Amino acid sequence: MEIFITEDYGQMSRKAAEIIAAQINSNSSSVIGFATGSTPVGTYKELIRMNSEGSLDFSGVTTFNLDEYFPIKGDDPQSYRQFMYENLFSHINVNKNNVNLLNGEAEDWEKEAAEYEEKIKRAGGIDLQILGIGNNGHIAFNEPAESFSRWTSLIKLTQDTINANARFFGKEEDVPKKALSMGIGSIMAAKKIIMLVSGKSKADAFSKAFYGDITPQVPASVLQFHQNVTLVADKEANF
Ligand code: PGA
Repeated sequence: MEIFITEDYGQMSRKAAEIIAAQINSNSSSVIGFATGSTPVGTYKELIRMNSEGSLDFSGVTTFNLDEYFPIKGDDPQSYRQFMYENLFSHINVNKNNVNLLNGEAEDWEKEAAEYEEKIKRAGGIDLQILGIGNNGHIAFNEPAESFSRWTSLIKLTQDTINANARFFGKEEDVPKKALSMGIGSIMAAKKIIMLVSGKSKADAFSKAFYGDITPQVPASVLQFHQNVTLVADKEANF
């Protein structure tokens, strides 16, 4: 595991963007797994800057996203589909046909989940997966539980996550209570993983995940078993 501790959020974002750009520059048809949330927004700004300056080309890149609320309409401003277009995809030269997002409007979530896994497989697997971490140690929407969930499935969000995400919705009642999420198995199958961690509020989850026991009660702790993880955390997140 490689660990970078940066001075602040800005430096964390630049470091993470450099790592993602290095992946794409070494293989222009890379498959990149993207994440939503506040943490990667600065990284996405850097990627947009590199793309607009001509030093980073997304035209051959295929993307997959970790998760989506369920049910939610694709044009709902709170959907992760909208988030990704607003914060990244609308501003870079990615081929929109190569953008893969879970469909929060799917009639049959099991079919949607199975097809998503199949698409990842057909794309050759994820070369680099970007992750954040929840205050409760979740990755994607894999919440603390009795066991690790394997592949993409429908998840019931914990109250911790609903509370944490209420900031985007105005009020807690409006936060969807379920989500479609890639599973721990889908995430662990990525060839490389980069996890971004920022701020004091993440210090506890960060410490438990990487210095504690490996347990489904702290889903991110499973990353200790992955062969190629890079952690980029700012000083405040480093307990
Ligand atoms: P955040 O979310 O980046 O908004 O803190 C991270 C997560 O819940 O995975």
